[in-house]
Amino acid sequence: MPHTFVIFGASGDLTSRKLVPALYNLMRAGLLPEETKIVGFSRTKMSDGEWRASLRESTKQHAGGEPFSQEAWNTFEPIIHYQPGDIESTADFEKLQQRLCSLEEGNPTPRVYYLATAPRFYTPAIAALGNLNMASEDHGDRRIVIEKPFGTDLVTAQALNNYIHTVFKESQVYRIDHYLGKESVQNILALRFANTIFEPIWNRRYIDHVQITVAEEVPVGRRGSYYDSAGVLRDMFQNHLLQLLMVTAMEAPVRFNADAVRNEKVKVLDAIRPLTLEQVADASIRGQYSGYLEEPGVRPGSNTATFGAVRLEVDNWRWQGVPFYLRSGKAMSCRTTQIVIGFRQPPLELFACDNSQAQREANRLVIQIQPAEGIQLHFHTKVPGDGMRLRLTDLEFSYSREFSGRLPEAYEPLLLDCMTGDASLFARSDEVEKSWGIIDPFVRAWSSDTTPPIPNYQPGDWGPAASNAWMHEQGQSWFDLCPVLR
Ligand code: BG6
Repeated sequence: MPHTFVIFGASGDLTSRKLVPALYNLMRAGLLPEETKIVGFSRTKMSDGEWRASLRESTKQHAGGEPFSQEAWNTFEPIIHYQPGDIESTADFEKLQQRLCSLEEGNPTPRVYYLATAPRFYTPAIAALGNLNMASEDHGDRRIVIEKPFGTDLVTAQALNNYIHTVFKESQVYRIDHYLGKESVQNILALRFANTIFEPIWNRRYIDHVQITVAEEVPVGRRGSYYDSAGVLRDMFQNHLLQLLMVTAMEAPVRFNADAVRNEKVKVLDAIRPLTLEQVADASIRGQYSGYLEEPGVRPGSNTATFGAVRLEVDNWRWQGVPFYLRSGKAMSCRTTQIVIGFRQPPLELFACDNSQAQREANRLVIQIQPAEGIQLHFHTKVPGDGMRLRLTDLEFSYSREFSGRLPEAYEPLLLDCMTGDASLFARSDEVEKSWGIIDPFVRAWSSDTTPPIPNYQPGDWGPAASNAWMHEQGQSWFDLCPVLR
């Protein structure tokens, strides 16, 4: 079935670094629906040929995995088209519509409109699609994909949802969070719901706490002006970290479809205990790396947090009393994304253990999302020989050892899903709004508080020292190992 994939913001970084390489990889894997056409729309004046030439270079650089194949590119290139135009110009939009109709040769063709633009263009683009009747499904499905940031708080997210719904039905809207496209995130669903052995212990009776860390080694770099108004809460917590929490904590859906999965995820958000501004201080730590203020685009004296740690409580039968610690930062010790399930200690210490830290470090399941993907179970074993000496050891599953070939980049399954109409891995309107409802109090409390003085951690640290002290006060410690799997 032919598809038309229309990219708004075609000359931007997202298109060249992520979207087109993902579409190219899908085609190479034989997964791109036959006769798909890719149409780019943005203000830069370019011909089809010029856009294709620049995409060839960027795809070579960013497609990852297998070496670039000129032969594959030769097959891919002819499906790429470019239409210059301004999102805010009705005349340019009309030209785009004519171009699409002529490429589709009058045949009913499903279309995906992908908003890869700056967020301020979301509403003009949606308005124009509505005015020109381009959202109507008389000639095939029409879907719209919206990138993050989806609003900057609950009020703006609600306003954006309301606006979208004046033109598109909710079933046509795909709010993308690339974390849900990562193989190892989807594998959490398989681990939990395709096996029976984890379910009986996946609850407050056996789990002491959960840690979710998304650490990045890179500093803010070129994105200073965007980042300085977003900060780590809006950039990472409202979307990626809460998504990881939802897939870790959700109940099994009754079936694997978009509504059933998203209903269960939303129930987790509903169960998160609301916090007052005063409680937020006790439930969070923020930081800024030294050198952030010198990054281009950052306001002098900016108070923006580049590191955050928050404690959330999920008040339902499964999780009541089990704290979820979420942590993320830029310029940290290493790049690692991991979910650590800390199980309770045995009720009796039968065997002397030299080290109480080692005692706590056993009984832990580490789900590593990146850079290498896999799972490790940490437990005690007896050291051979005299006496009952214990040592920490592990069982390990590693994607790269288990499966040959390259793992698809996160955007690949997601782009395919929006073409085939599977919204399971996309956020629904209520999900996005409830996420903002959870993060907003932290944003408000942090922006109104000028203590502690920041910057407060050095690039290469695991965030500020206060973050460790905060965990120790609660009888916990962060799991600070750089990638446990390689
Ligand atoms: C993006 C954030 O959504 O996710 C970036 O805006 C961050 O600041 C990125 O670097 C992290 O994604 P990944 O896939 O590299 O972990």
